Amino acid sequence: MHQPESTREHWGSRLGFILAAMGSAVGLGNIWRFSYVTGENGGGAFLLIYLVFIALIGIPILIAELTIGRKSQSDVVGSFTKLAPGKPWVVAGIMGVASAFIILSFYGVIAGWSVFYFFQYVIGNLNTEPANGYGGFFGAFISDSFQPLFWQFLFMAMTIGVVFVGIKKGIERANKILMPLLAILVIGLALYSLTLGGTKEALRFMFSPDWSALTEPKVYLAALGQAFFSLSLGMGALITYGSYLKKEHKLPGAAVSVASLDTGFAIVAGLMIFPAVFAFGVAPDQGPGLAFIILPGIFDNLGMGQLFGLLFFLLLSAAALSSAVSLLEVAVAYFIRKFDWSRRKAAVIVGGIIFLLGIPSSLGNGVWEDLAFFGQETMIDSMDFIASNIFLPLGGMIIAMFVGWGWKKADALEESDLGDSFIGKVWLLVIRFIAPAAIFVIFLSTIGLIG
Ligand code: PHE
Ligand code: NA
Repeated sequence: MHQPESTREHWGSRLGFILAAMGSAVGLGNIWRFSYVTGENGGGAFLLIYLVFIALIGIPILIAELTIGRKSQSDVVGSFTKLAPGKPWVVAGIMGVASAFIILSFYGVIAGWSVFYFFQYVIGNLNTEPANGYGGFFGAFISDSFQPLFWQFLFMAMTIGVVFVGIKKGIERANKILMPLLAILVIGLALYSLTLGGTKEALRFMFSPDWSALTEPKVYLAALGQAFFSLSLGMGALITYGSYLKKEHKLPGAAVSVASLDTGFAIVAGLMIFPAVFAFGVAPDQGPGLAFIILPGIFDNLGMGQLFGLLFFLLLSAAALSSAVSLLEVAVAYFIRKFDWSRRKAAVIVGGIIFLLGIPSSLGNGVWEDLAFFGQETMIDSMDFIASNIFLPLGGMIIAMFVGWGWKKADALEESDLGDSFIGKVWLLVIRFIAPAAIFVIFLSTIGLIG
């Protein structure tokens, strides 16, 4: 038995929906992932390509996802089977559910690190630099077999708890208070970081592109993956959230606000981390530990480091929670419809499986350090690579083409609220030709067929 439409849960208000979508977008991707991927890809050129991708590919596909969800009133797989029965577009939906499992499995590990750091500040364990330095402290923690698993478990239990309670009660509320607080704190810390003495180098690193990097396919793939990951795009999180919208809630404005806020967060986070990176004389390309090593150093320099460290990791964990909830919701919404499970049963079973799936990602920093695929260094990098750099852009490409080519032009314009306007025509042009072609070319050049 399928859920009848009239009983489908809906957002309380348009604002509630926008906040939830922002909560999904803003997370570890803006601080942890953005900083280390920017650092690894040379800074400025990467950042420039990233910004172009957000505007040119990200926002148009974001509108396409929301359009699909609101129209279908169904989960990421159901959307395609309902709107285009028997057609192959549904592979995007299946890949979306798979991406939810893969991403949340390692996202829970990193979020667990954040909760652990919060706890360290609560008990006053990071008030002064540890004997082996912040890098040594971080390395010892993540390579431990038990500790990170414990915090990952705790974080996943909270994620399951929120999804268990349901989108309205569970997801809408917390974002209203915590996200503005995190924004204020990150801006404040960026202003402080800019006084530490590494500002000139940091600004040069972030904003004056090394043009030779523009010829490297790997920089484009990294920027594409970061754009999709950060916007929660290409795997149906926004189809799912859009499906809890009523027709009278308008889409394009919401899409632009979400993308702007997410991008603003990333840039300010960069301004928080990179001046300190150069002031402390740390290498910007040291990988996934960057934020966890640099931030404690910033708090250490601050007068009330314990307080700021505590607040920061609390709010970062909260931001990670609202993103994790949207990841879990993609899979849970599918299982509820497909197997007629209750929301509670689906949340516990699916969340539990994802926790287990994340164990290799956690142990991959220690006892299972040889476990890796796709030419990556660790299990986390491998999972992240397949999901963020392959599945999300590929899913986004299919989503764009589904609305662009699978629908009548007039329907696409009408259902997206863009209407028969200039912007509507530009949007159609992008989702029909430009976005799919750009993604295709980037994929081709990475496997070395051209370029
Ligand atoms: N956008 C989230 C972040 O930046 C991560 C995410 C990816 C959430 C995909 C949902 C779907 O942290
Ligand atoms: Na993000």
